[in-house]
Formats: sequence, C-alpha cells, structure tokens
Amino acid sequence: VKRMKLGRQGLEVSAQGLGCMGLSTLYGAPKPETDAITLLHHAIDTGVTFLDTSDIYGPQTNELLLGKALKNGFRAKIELATKFGIIYGEGEREIEGDPAYVRAACEASLKRLDVDCIDLYYQHRIDTRVPIEITMGELKKLVEEGKIKYIGLSEASASTIRRAHAVHPITAVQLEWSLWSRDVEEDIIPTCRELGIGIVAYSPLGRGFFAAGPKLVEKLDNDDFRKRLPRFKQENLDHNKILYDKVCAISEKKGCTPAQLALAWVHHQGDDVCPIPGTTKIENLNQNIGALSVKLTPDEMAELETIVQLESVKGERYANMTATFKNSDTPPLS
Ligand code: ATR
Repeated sequence: VKRMKLGRQGLEVSAQGLGCMGLSTLYGAPKPETDAITLLHHAIDTGVTFLDTSDIYGPQTNELLLGKALKNGFRAKIELATKFGIIYGEGEREIEGDPAYVRAACEASLKRLDVDCIDLYYQHRIDTRVPIEITMGELKKLVEEGKIKYIGLSEASASTIRRAHAVHPITAVQLEWSLWSRDVEEDIIPTCRELGIGIVAYSPLGRGFFAAGPKLVEKLDNDDFRKRLPRFKQENLDHNKILYDKVCAISEKKGCTPAQLALAWVHHQGDDVCPIPGTTKIENLNQNIGALSVKLTPDEMAELETIVQLESVKGERYANMTATFKNSDTPPLS
C-alpha cells in the first residue's frame, strides 16, 4: 500500500487507513475479539497501517481492543490515531474541550491503548463553549510532553481550523467525504489546502451504502446506528437507491466493485486526502486496498459527480446536525 504525507509536520501514513469503530460499536454487535485482532493484524501486514479509533467507540472498548492488537511489535508498525471530546452522559451527548478534560482523556487513552504516545490526537467534536485556542493550548502541551505527536480536528469549521492552526500546526482534519457527502468542498477543503493540513475522509463508502446499496438496510441489526440516519430511512432510501444503481452501472463498465469506485473517487481528490473506510472483514479490506489501483479519468470523475449531485441526495448526514462543522465556531478568546 502506497504511503503519503499527512500535513506538513512530518507524519507519514498509508494512503488508505482503517476505521476501527465498526469492530466494537454502532454498526451491529461487537465482533468477536479474536476475529477483530486477526483483521487488524492482516491490515497492518498488508500495509494499511493508519488505524483510526476514538475513546467514544464502545465507549472505550475499541481502544482496549487496539491495545491488545498492538502487542508483540505491532505498535511500532502503525500510525495510531484516536480522539477525545465526546461523552455520553445520562443519555445526553456532551462535547468537552476544556483543558483539564483534554489532559485526563489523553492519559486515559494512553492507558487503554497501552502505548507511550499517540501519533495523531483529534478533538472529535468541537466544544462551542470553549475558545478553540484554550483547547489547543493544552494539546500543544501534550505534544511538548511527548504524549501525542500530532494534532487533528474533526468536524471543525473553517474559522475554527484557522484559529487552531495559529496556536499550533494542525496536521489533519477529519471530515465526512464521499460521493453523497460533499458539503465540505465549499469551505473546509480549501482552508485545509491553504494551510497545508492533511485531509482524512471518514465514511468514504457512505457508511456502506455505496458498497451494498439499499439492501444493506434490510440486514442491519435494530440497534445499528445507521437506522437512525435520515439517508437510511425508507422514505429517502427509495430515492437514494437511484444513485447507487448508477454507481453500479459505472463500476460494471470499469470492471471494479461499486465500493472500489466510491473509494477511488475519494482517492482522486488529491494526494493530501486519506480515506479511512471501516470494515470488519478481510475480503472487504482487500477489496478496498484494490481501490488504490482504480484509475479514473476527469470525464469519469465528472460523470460520477453529475449523478450524485448534492441536491439529488435525500436526507442529511445526521439526524441532528448540531455536532457537525456547521455548528463548530467557538467564542472569541477574551
Ligand atoms: P465508516 O467510516 O462510518 O465506517 P464507511 O467506511 O463508509 O463508513 O463504510 C463502512 C461500512 O461499509 C461497514 O458497514 C462495512 O461493513 P463490513 O464490516 O461488513 O465490511 C462496509 N464495507 C466496507 N468495505 C466494504 C466492501 N469492500 N464491500 C462491502 N461492504 C464494505
């Protein structure tokens, strides 16, 4: 698997990463631990070394899983990314970015992962009560102390990215980017490029929609998080199915799978973009690596984009958009 530079601070990662969330949570029951570890080792051995987790996945169980998988020399072979800032309180979701919380969260993640240092530490969601400079000040200290190597932000607005970057260079911004999630292209992507910040694309397969299509929904467990997402609701699904069918038609012509085509579209956005598809299956992981060899011409890119225009997608990315970049500006530092 090809390697790439992420940001301008020296981090190098595999050109495709692995989203680990689904191994533990949200996408159906947790996968058996031995299978999950086998999958993680296979990914690392084949060169997908950029592993993405968060303290909120589980919560905590996904980091504990990685902690186990990284024993016996695997830690040294990977780039480890985790995140802080989302807490499930009494059923309510809270977002936390104050310095004492940042430090405590980092120390707890280091312990669960059983490592000395996190390669890339993201603020998972932006705390709109805390000026971003204050959160960044603590992250900067964690870098100076060697507890984290690089800093990232997830679902951050252009202005939050800019203000954060002025305190300490941001290495990567993580955002949802796929054929049906293109709202980041207006403001966020250009801002990252202007500042030399790497771009990490989550849910590049549209949470599996562009791999399996609408029939994915029939197979989901009742507690699968995707059942709550507007795009996966029946009233929108019948419409969105048309997009999937068209992607399938093009992938057939190309001789690749629809998942590979959707991923290749993200890979073709630029050499500063690293998609991190999630999978729990070795055969799907291998297929996703294959997407790195799918070459798309400008005409094919344009064809894909015209069939999946933003207006033609029905349903928002989340049922509640308040914890996205659209609502991630923080108060001025007074
Ligand atoms: P996220 O970033 O939220 O994990 P994603 O990467 O867009 O979302 O899609 C992940 C989903 O696509 C998972 O449900 C995964 O299911 P498996 O664990 O069964 O693989 C599915 N998926 C990933 N790669 C796939 C592939 N090549 N073919 C079919 N499904 C795939």
